[in-house]
Amino acid sequence: MVIGSRTPLPNFKKGSAGNWLSGSFIECNAINDENSEVRSYQFKDPYGGGFKYKAGQHISILLPLDDGEEYRTFTIASSPTRAHNITLTVKTNRPNGATAWMRENIIVGTKLIAVGPTGPFNIADHPCHKLLLICAGSGITPMMSILRWLWDRKEDIEITFIHYAKNPDQFLFNDELKQIAKDYSSLTVHQISTDRPDGKTNNLPNFEQITSLIDMTDHDVFCCGPNGFMQKIEKIVKKAGANHYYQESFGTQIKSNINSNIITNAENLTINYKGRIIEAKKGENLLAVLKKHKFIIPTGCQSGMCGTCHLKILRGSVDMNHQGGLSKAQEDEGIILACSSTITTDLTLI
Ligand SMILES: Cc1cc2nc3c(=O)[nH]c(=O)nc-3n(C[C@H](O)[C@H](O)[C@H](O)COP(=O)(O)OP(=O)(O)OC[C@H]3O[C@@H](n4cnc5c(N)ncnc54)[C@H](O)[C@@H]3O)c2cc1C
Ligand code: FES
Repeated sequence: MVIGSRTPLPNFKKGSAGNWLSGSFIECNAINDENSEVRSYQFKDPYGGGFKYKAGQHISILLPLDDGEEYRTFTIASSPTRAHNITLTVKTNRPNGATAWMRENIIVGTKLIAVGPTGPFNIADHPCHKLLLICAGSGITPMMSILRWLWDRKEDIEITFIHYAKNPDQFLFNDELKQIAKDYSSLTVHQISTDRPDGKTNNLPNFEQITSLIDMTDHDVFCCGPNGFMQKIEKIVKKAGANHYYQESFGTQIKSNINSNIITNAENLTINYKGRIIEAKKGENLLAVLKKHKFIIPTGCQSGMCGTCHLKILRGSVDMNHQGGLSKAQEDEGIILACSSTITTDLTLI
């Protein structure tokens, strides 16, 4: 079978499959604690439609936080084959911030505005025959979506799934992974605990460890986890001969590139967006300017990787330096990433 071919969606009323609209409400219809630190929230379309997305993509939800409304971005951990609901699996152990708000406030019946789904990190756009899904901590969420999708479709490809966690209590989706591996002969699962029982040395990924688990020849690699982890894995798999390497950044450890460098004597420019005309200086970061003028722009990584902050230019141009968050086709259509764009002319945006 070829990844990316279309599977009919199950059990939909005629015409309702995939017709949830970005920018409208999603409604929580189930909550499940995966462990003491991680909670899954399942959402449905309150109007009975279904969600259309590619396994690995993410969605941004608008949260009414104390300091005002803000978007937060989460991978959809469920599979597009089960399109009636989406599940977001969220690390909820922070004492405050957006995920703490979610832990304390989201209950079954809560409705929130969401935008997306979007994101270049997805399996449907990158067909392959041998796949390594490698992740650490909550970076498992896009890998679960990809694996659940491949499994639901019984895709005949070789899959190795490696999950790193500090200790065995933190291995997420343990039972489900075991169940899928039992029935899916082309899947091999490795769960690696980085803290050794003696507490002395860390069992962190290295070349020998990974190449003892998998012969990387002809493999495409999908990786998600903390930045240092992903940098290490990229080096290892490239050295070991992998075909392609793709990574998803949750952005939490990335230094944001949206700080605006205002050159006080720079040329004055205007931005026309959502019926308002605002002023900007040539050379300012577009996202910083929009935020300064109180536009609520969905953002995720804030460094040009996840594609969440995309806008379309109707008039004008920007200097853009993104990290793979847009495809060439999107760029050709005039789509830009606000977080990675510097204003160079007057702009009209949608
Ligand atoms: C593509 C993508 C997928 C993700 N998937 C998951 C997932 O599946 N599970 C999961 O647990 N987490 C995921 N995250 C991380 C998640 O979005 C949160 O950033 C993270 O959980 C931080 O927790 P918090 O929002 O409670 O922190 P907060 O304390 O609210 O924020 C931490 C700091 O980061 C800043 N910040 C964080 N995110 C944003 C944002 N979007 N816009 C503006 N400022 C921001 C805040 O201003 C603050 O300074 C994903 C992130 C991205 C980009
Ligand atoms: S916020 Fe991720 S690309 Fe801009």
